[in-house]
Amino acid sequence: MAIERTLSIIKPDATRRNLTGKINAKFEENGLMIAATKRLHLTRAQAEAFYAVHSARPFFNDLVEFMISGPVVAQVLVGEGAILKNRDIMGATNPANAAPGTIRAEFAESIEANSVHGSDSAEAAAQEISFFFAEIEIVA
Ligand code: PPS
Repeated sequence: MAIERTLSIIKPDATRRNLTGKINAKFEENGLMIAATKRLHLTRAQAEAFYAVHSARPFFNDLVEFMISGPVVAQVLVGEGAILKNRDIMGATNPANAAPGTIRAEFAESIEANSVHGSDSAEAAAQEISFFFAEIEIVA
């Protein structure tokens, strides 16, 4: 399987509970390498731009409010089949449906406060990585 990059965000509910290390351990235990990392507090404009693809959805404003409610950690994860692998490690969007052992099953509080974001396609990964990182900041 090809080596891929994907964009991960550790969300405000997880940074608030100091879970960054435990979530990163899940990535590393499952063969994903953290090739870039950046802690930041998104502005409303940044969050709206990042989630523009969801702007017509009924939860858009709630999602933006939540994502600017505290710091996030944006990361580039690298590994074999990293995009799908990361989605597997994260678990289902709604933690009530997340498989045991996944990040969302163990740590998420709700469908909104669900601890992590992960790119859902190669196109999204490339676009989302370039949203946060310059090439010089990504070291695999
Ligand atoms: S997914 O994972 O992209 O297939 O899920 P999707 O249902 O399309 O949701 C897209 C993002 O919106 C978040 N979401 C919500 N936020 C607040 N309230 C409600 N009800 C809600 N439902 C979904 C979901 O966590 C996804 O965020 P990201 O950051 O992409 O994981």
